[in-house]
Amino acid sequence: MSIQVLSRLSSVVQAATQKRGADISNRTFFIALCAAFIPYSAYVYTQGTEASHISPMTKEARQGLKLFQAHNCVACHQFYGLGGYMGPDLTNVISTKGAGYARAFLMSGTQRMPNFNLKESELDAMVAFLEFVDASGEYPIAEYEVDWYGTVVQKVVQKDE
Ligand code: HEC
Repeated sequence: MSIQVLSRLSSVVQAATQKRGADISNRTFFIALCAAFIPYSAYVYTQGTEASHISPMTKEARQGLKLFQAHNCVACHQFYGLGGYMGPDLTNVISTKGAGYARAFLMSGTQRMPNFNLKESELDAMVAFLEFVDASGEYPIAEYEVDWYGTVVQKVVQKDE
């Protein structure tokens, strides 16, 4: 909105409030705004945080998350484009390259990726965690929509397993 439109709007509001006398004044307007703010806040803070398409994290995946943090994988890797940039993004490594492929990297490392000497159970946990992340969405986001509120929402593409 340009400045001219805003100043025109404010003079219209002023004229309207002056006509009705001092009762309907800036204060009434302010109180009305405060009143509108309450349901608005309630709406904003309760909407849009659910991710109903993601099933709860299993115990194994949770252990994988802990290992992921303990070994600081994010120093070199990204989820949804966020993280270090020495290695590739891991968001969809399971669905694009496969669990066996990811496991192989973790088992032996490469010249550029360290071998973390994970135990069998830890390898399983790490793969379970990567599977959990993979099921949460797609990166780069291929399909999205803008909801009525202006928020960009990723369209959930059901993967055939
Ligand atoms: C020092 C940096 C570094 C760390 C730390 C690291 N990685 Fe890597 N990772 C890489 C690099 C670089 C590659 C690419 C392989 C290559 O070119 O050698 C890679 C490849 C991978 C791949 C195969 C990805 C693909 O798309 O080909 C997976 C899976 C993986 N890493 C998982 C992990 C996990 C899980 C951890 C934590 C336990 C981890 N990495 C820690 C550097 C790292």
